[in-house]
Amino acid sequence: MNKKSDPIAVIDSGMGGITVLRKLYKLMPNENYIYFGDSANAPYGVKSTDEIRQLTVDGFEMLKDMGAKAIVIACNTATSAAAAGLREKYPDFPIIGLEPAVKPAALSMEQPVVLVLATPLTLREKKYLKLVERFEGEATFIPLPAPELVRFIESGKLDSREEIDYLERILAPYADNRVDAVVLGCTHFPFARRQIQRILGDEVLVFEGGKGAARQCKRLLENIDLLADEAQDGKITFLNSDESKIPLCRQMFFYKG
Ligand code: DGL
Repeated sequence: MNKKSDPIAVIDSGMGGITVLRKLYKLMPNENYIYFGDSANAPYGVKSTDEIRQLTVDGFEMLKDMGAKAIVIACNTATSAAAAGLREKYPDFPIIGLEPAVKPAALSMEQPVVLVLATPLTLREKKYLKLVERFEGEATFIPLPAPELVRFIESGKLDSREEIDYLERILAPYADNRVDAVVLGCTHFPFARRQIQRILGDEVLVFEGGKGAARQCKRLLENIDLLADEAQDGKITFLNSDESKIPLCRQMFFYKG
């Protein structure tokens, strides 16, 4: 049986889930958190679905065994590959996944043109294809895989010349307000939000899934009466399959971007 003081665990292929952890912490500062980044195996988005599923299940089981009261799969790629199977195996356990914020982007205005930035895996998986199918009448979607951006962020090279050159190159066809909205469909990408907005143009609406995932996590915990007591100050423990990355995880949690 889980207790209110048990941690919420957050899992990602590496640094990306920290953008979700920041939203969770902002919404629920009294909670304890364990953040697990699998940086030794990052990036996930260019691996096979089976490989990602196995890595995600291994990380998930480890965090569950550590006594997590809920697990946030703070990675669109890992959610596409593994969330359905894990929900089937643990129907009563709170599992929160991430998916590209296609719905709010599609409904943000009349027939928008929406650029969807994500990993190659997310964009080819059934979960995304079905999601886009649902809103096809409402918007035009342009999928754009950006696997190199994950590598820049994973190495902590935020706002580096290489990162900016890469973004300017892949976003050139959509620059200067040529799309209406952009979906950051990978949890690493909010770390590059400012650059993406600058290149695409001031009027472009930017959508990401972290806040929604944090709200859903709170709702699920509320429903089973497992939200932490407000008297408690939350603490965050960082774990990483590449231990040398732990200081960078802490730094990125406090990044002002
Ligand atoms: N952060 C992950 C996502 O949301 C994937 C990054 C990777 O390729 O490892 O999709």
